[in-house]
Amino acid sequence: MKDFIGIADYSPADLQAMLDLAVKLKKEYQSGGNKPVLQGKTLAMVFQKPSLRTRVSFDMAMRHLGGDALYLSPAEIGLGKRESIADVARVISGYVEGIMARVFDHAHVVELAQWASVPVINGLSDYNHPCQGMADALTILEEFGTLKGINVTYVGDGNNVAVSLMHVCAKLGANFTIANPAGYAIVPAAVDHAKKFAAESGSTLTFTDDSHAAVKNADVIYTDTWTSMGQEEESKKREAVFPPYQVNAKLVGEANKRAIVLHCLPAHRGQEITDEVADGPHSRLFPQAHNRLHAQKAILAKLLG
Ligand code: CP
Ligand code: NVA
Repeated sequence: MKDFIGIADYSPADLQAMLDLAVKLKKEYQSGGNKPVLQGKTLAMVFQKPSLRTRVSFDMAMRHLGGDALYLSPAEIGLGKRESIADVARVISGYVEGIMARVFDHAHVVELAQWASVPVINGLSDYNHPCQGMADALTILEEFGTLKGINVTYVGDGNNVAVSLMHVCAKLGANFTIANPAGYAIVPAAVDHAKKFAAESGSTLTFTDDSHAAVKNADVIYTDTWTSMGQEEESKKREAVFPPYQVNAKLVGEANKRAIVLHCLPAHRGQEITDEVADGPHSRLFPQAHNRLHAQKAILAKLLG
C-alpha cells in the first residue's frame, strides 16, 4: 500500500501492526529518542485548511525520525486552482519522499495519490480523518489494553472524524455507537463499509438520535465540533440543533464509571463539550492530541521508511 488515505483501505492486521509500531516508537522516543530511520527524507505538508495538531505533529514526527518537513500553505499552492492536482502531484514527487495533504474535497487527496509517485497521507478531508483515527485507537489501546469489545460512543455530528473513528473501531473489534440529530448522520457509503468490517471483526454498530441511550455502558465518549471547517455558513443553524448532544458532566455520569472522554480538538468549550468535562477526571484530550505524534510516526515509518 503506497498511501494512507483511509483506515478502510487497511486490514485489521496492518492497522494493529501500525499501532504496535506507534507504541514502540513512543517508548523509544520517551526513553532518549528515536532512531533516524527517515534520515535524508522530506515530507511536503500541503494545507488547504488551518491546523495546529496536524501541522506540528507531522513536522515534529519527521524531525524525531531524522527527516525534514516542508509546510505549504493554502495561499502558496492553490491546489487545483493555480495548478492542476495532477501537475502538483508530479512536480512535488520529484522533490520530496512523501506528501501529507489536508484538503476540502476528499476526491482531491485521492487524485493527488493517483498522480504522485511518492506516498500520500490524508491529513483530513471532508470525508475522513484517518491519522486522527489512528491516534484515537492508540489512546483507547493505552487506556484499556485492547480495542476488542470496548464500547465507543460518538455524540454529535456524523463528520469526517466520526467516519475514521467508526472504521477503526469496526476493523479492530470495538463496538461503535453514534448519537446524532436527524440530518447529521454519517454518510451511508462509510456506514456500508463499516458494516462489512464489523461483521468481520465481530463488533457491533449502533445508530441512534438519543445521546442518553448511546452513552449507557460506554467506555469511551467522543465528540467533535458541530461545525467543521468548510461549513462555517451553517454554524447558526447547527448551533440551534446540536445542544442536546453536548458532552457535559450529566451525560458522562450516565456512562461506565471507567469511561474516558475524547475529542480530536480544536474544542468549542460550552458547545459540544463543557470545561468541566474537558478538564475533568474522565478527559484524555491532551494525551490523545499528543498521540497524533506517535501514531503518525508509525504511518511515516511504514510508508516512507
Ligand atoms: N485534530 C486535528 O486534526 O487538529 P488540527 O486541525 O489542529 O490539525
Ligand atoms: N471535524 C473537524 C475536525 C477538525 C480537526 C473539521 O473538519 O473541521
